[in-house]
Amino acid sequence: MALVPLADLLQKADQGSYALGAFNCNNMEIVQSIVGAAEAESAPVIIQASQGGIKYAGLNFIIALARQAAEEAAVPVVLHLDHGTSFEQVMQCIRFGFTSVMYDGSSLPLEENITQTRKVVERARVFGVSVEAELGRLGGTEYDISVSDRDALFTDPAEAEKFVAETDIDALAIAIGTAHGQYKGNPELDFDRLEEIGKRTSCPVVLHGSSGIPDASINRAIDLGVRKINIDTSIREAFVGAMRDTLAENPDEIDPRKILGPSRDAAAEVIREKIRLFGSSGKS
Ligand code: G3H
Ligand code: 13P
Ligand code: ZN
Repeated sequence: MALVPLADLLQKADQGSYALGAFNCNNMEIVQSIVGAAEAESAPVIIQASQGGIKYAGLNFIIALARQAAEEAAVPVVLHLDHGTSFEQVMQCIRFGFTSVMYDGSSLPLEENITQTRKVVERARVFGVSVEAELGRLGGTEYDISVSDRDALFTDPAEAEKFVAETDIDALAIAIGTAHGQYKGNPELDFDRLEEIGKRTSCPVVLHGSSGIPDASINRAIDLGVRKINIDTSIREAFVGAMRDTLAENPDEIDPRKILGPSRDAAAEVIREKIRLFGSSGKS
């Protein structure tokens, strides 16, 4: 089927109290592992590409890969821009066929973030494209954040209420103690803050930096309203880990298919586990 927007899938996830998996891609094999895993789990799925991913593969290649994978799939597939910080790039993705975009103005002062996000939402609506935006700053991966740092970095629930009301976004990315990449300590999430955000706005919440979060915390976050969960690092670990194993066992192998094939399978297996954890298995 054709690529679909994110907003409708988020509504269904909200009604069913589960979360959609959003998986980062950089190449054909990872796109295939994401959609293959979603098909195997009968799950709706989000393929996402960061600005770095787009730079590596090329915008038209990412779109063509995602479109083709979606065409061949019996499950709904979204193509989403991850962390778009340039207004021009966000607009280019909207015009070229992404069905969802993240505008990340989290480094801007609140009023400026609202103004820029609102501008993206107005343009995206014309194309039927969904918009995620971010409020609060994701931390580093070392867990020694003081209470005052937490208040400065994490999403303020009152600001979240104002941000959603004034921008009309489809999904809100928050900072409650997650970080991109591998965690060096035990991540302690601020669930009270997440609960308060959920009380102040009905906007579906997005959790970034979710690869190293323990399963119990993922379950609790979903109970408290998280509806989109971003995973990149776990895919990288599985993909490159399998590549290392293959090459260690077959140091003379030169056929890329024999090296990349097992990596594609390993990534798909990790993605299936995440889909089951997020509760979106069987929800296509
Ligand atoms: O948000 C972070 C994602 O893991 C994308 O990372 O910018 O290296 O593609 P990247
Ligand atoms: P991880 O790499 O920590 O899973 O984070 C992914 C992410 O948040 C992409 O936006
Ligand atoms: Zn992220």
